[in-house]
Amino acid sequence: MNVAIIGVGARGSIYAKQFHSNGYKIVALCEKNPAILHSTAKKYGVSPDKCFANDEEFFAQGKLADILVVATQDRDHYGHAKQGLNLGYHLLCEKPVSPILEQCEELNALAIEKDRYMVVCHVLRYAPYYDATKKVIDSGKIGKVTNINHVENVGYWHFSHSYVRGNWRREDETAPSILAKCCHDLDMIYYWTGKKCKRVYSIGERREFLNENAPEGAPTHCEMGCPHAKNCPYEASKIYYRPTLKTIPYMIVKKRLVCGKDGATMKEFKEALKTSPYGRCVYRCDNDVIENQVVSMVLEDGINATHTMTAQSQNCYRHTRICGTKGEIIGDDNSFCFKLHVFGERPKKIRVRMLGIGHLGGDAGVVKDFITLMETGVVTPRMSLMSTTLESHKIAFAAEESRKTGKVIELND
Ligand SMILES: NC(=O)c1ccc[n+]([C@@H]2O[C@H](COP(=O)([O-])OP(=O)(O)OC[C@H]3O[C@@H](n4cnc5c(N)ncnc54)[C@H](O)[C@@H]3O)[C@@H](O)[C@H]2O)c1
Repeated sequence: MNVAIIGVGARGSIYAKQFHSNGYKIVALCEKNPAILHSTAKKYGVSPDKCFANDEEFFAQGKLADILVVATQDRDHYGHAKQGLNLGYHLLCEKPVSPILEQCEELNALAIEKDRYMVVCHVLRYAPYYDATKKVIDSGKIGKVTNINHVENVGYWHFSHSYVRGNWRREDETAPSILAKCCHDLDMIYYWTGKKCKRVYSIGERREFLNENAPEGAPTHCEMGCPHAKNCPYEASKIYYRPTLKTIPYMIVKKRLVCGKDGATMKEFKEALKTSPYGRCVYRCDNDVIENQVVSMVLEDGINATHTMTAQSQNCYRHTRICGTKGEIIGDDNSFCFKLHVFGERPKKIRVRMLGIGHLGGDAGVVKDFITLMETGVVTPRMSLMSTTLESHKIAFAAEESRKTGKVIELND
């Protein structure tokens, strides 16, 4: 089997590497940035006549491979996935599938009609930490799940990078942050319990990254001599290249994003920040996505769950408490372990393999399971087909409706 990829940015290049290292051949690429298209084609030996900078030309060629990876931006997945399914590709599609419910439903129906697999990249399911929590729940050790309290700490540096300066800062260009950032978490709530959500209430706000909070005299870009540079934690040099805690690893992978090509020098990188969207003052951007949001849910069987997303945290990680009739699980995915309390017994610390790279190991896992699916037809329990993803996407859509209207939203099948 061989693979075509549309969108070879941060995510697409990860999937290219994963398929390649599992012995799958990358035979076609569609990427609108010519520098990235060229460097990726060279890396994987893709023939120039199978490289496209334009999606219309790519799809006009017909089916070029068995598998199509859709890793373009949120609002492009629908069109790319639809054309892919119509041509007969099996799809590995990035999340969120689409910020529009009807488009998600249409793709689900199309995948069924065409008898093609459409797997969505809910990578957390495949990370050893989440795998282990799921196994404990399924073992019955904590009894029946009654309550879940899940918190996504986005990290002040990550939020400023992606949701204030970067690609996911505007709902009309990508998706609301509760869908773009948290669809994995809402998916985990469904995955852990196997229960659909029936009722949703949500509140959320933007408080910090507002134009009205711009300090006096702050220029549009940090590197243009901002008088507040020393005291501002979001100042571009601190986020992208000075050795401040937690930000350096992030900067390294995003160099390509700021410069628009591979192999940029440090000088080019610093220069690019003077004009790049990523060099902007965080108080003078055109962002509109929510910074803090709480989603309260009632699932089937009356299980209660909450999910909180916050921009204002030092680190980027999730912590979770899952209560059951016979015990509870408490942990955070940053520590690669969680506590299992079975009521009346000594608590146990459950440690998992430390796979820190690529969503705690989830990026490699999703490709491995997808390959299993292609080779054996087995849909592993961890795999989220489009029909499953619909359930968690629906929660995000309902959360947005609730946040905007102040109403409780009922979800029907
Ligand atoms: N599964 C996850 O955990 C996870 C994590 C981050 C991002 N994502 C999602 O993955 C997707 C891609 O994110 P990314 O970080 O790789 O973004 P990115 O901007 O780095 O990559 C997108 C690439 O698609 C290319 N592209 C855009 N439109 C195109 C078109 N019409 N034809 C061909 N190429 C086109 C862009 O040039 C870019 O290189 C997004 O939907 C994002 O929300 C998923």
